[in-house]
Amino acid sequence: MSVSNRAPSELLNSRRSPLLVFSGQSNRALAQSICDHLGVPLGRSKTEKFTNDNIIVHYEESLREGDVFIVQTFSTPVSDAIMELMLMIDAAKSASAGRVTAVIPYYSYARSDKKDSPRISIAGRLVADLLQEAGADRILTMTLHAPQVHGFFKVPVDHLSADLVLSQHFKSCVPDAHNGVVLAPDAGSIKRASQIARRLDSGLAMIDKERISDTEVRPRALIGDVEGKTVFIVDDEISTAGSLVETVNIARSMGAKDVYVAVTHGVYTGPAIQRIAGLDVTQVASTNTVLVPDSKVEAANGKLAVLDVAPLFADAITNIHTGASVSTLFT
Ligand code: R5P
Repeated sequence: MSVSNRAPSELLNSRRSPLLVFSGQSNRALAQSICDHLGVPLGRSKTEKFTNDNIIVHYEESLREGDVFIVQTFSTPVSDAIMELMLMIDAAKSASAGRVTAVIPYYSYARSDKKDSPRISIAGRLVADLLQEAGADRILTMTLHAPQVHGFFKVPVDHLSADLVLSQHFKSCVPDAHNGVVLAPDAGSIKRASQIARRLDSGLAMIDKERISDTEVRPRALIGDVEGKTVFIVDDEISTAGSLVETVNIARSMGAKDVYVAVTHGVYTGPAIQRIAGLDVTQVASTNTVLVPDSKVEAANGKLAVLDVAPLFADAITNIHTGASVSTLFT
């Protein structure tokens, strides 16, 4: 049938941009799992490093007019991950992609969201500028350390939450979770903790703490009652696990019965795994926004669990691609 003989709706459908998903190097396992849930193959691309450390990215299939999603989480080495993502966005635009969405499960620079000491960069905003300058048309991310980082972007941002995954996990571990208490490790996490407490129909408590440096925190008081209760600690991320150790210690000293921990991003830097292995908790769970190698799971003394958020990202990509609502995924 010639183009002119086809019904307009048929023409429109035939011209819908194909869904194409590619991955940077930082978490290919998550990207592959997202593709498996979507039922599409992971796009073919290659990243290489020259001897002088320059990165080159090369797509091995056509992207022309495609609805392109590039999965890249900001985990170690973070600067390489950001640079590779910018090159992938730029190369996709140069290859005539129709629309490019940067899928950033963990946006690490969200921790740098304000000028809280003199002569520093608000790097969360700078990285947002760089991604947009490279050509990102949309951003899909999860649990920003500070939700207002969303506002650093002028392009649309879909900000997913892992709260549903974390609370369902608590319920599967502790059937009478409603008798427990969700504990927020600091004022910044009280909103998230309160949403999870609502989902569990449980109590809520908070620790008042002071951050001394990047690696040191000092707890001041626990507001609420945890005595004799199962305590669920929730946070956006665990990096060195310094905050977690302080939070668990104070909960224990106030008489907590059992302690379960669930966070969105398990970054586990420096002494984190060693600290978790020796921690007086039943379990520490994090999602796979950051790749947790088997070696770390094994070294954590049976304490570490990894929860899968690939289905949530796959649903979000489907809805963005088809123009459906993304907020329906939160309920
Ligand atoms: C702090 O404001 C955050 O919500 C996390 O508690 C913190 O980033 C975790 O870092 P670390 O594990 O190094 O204490």
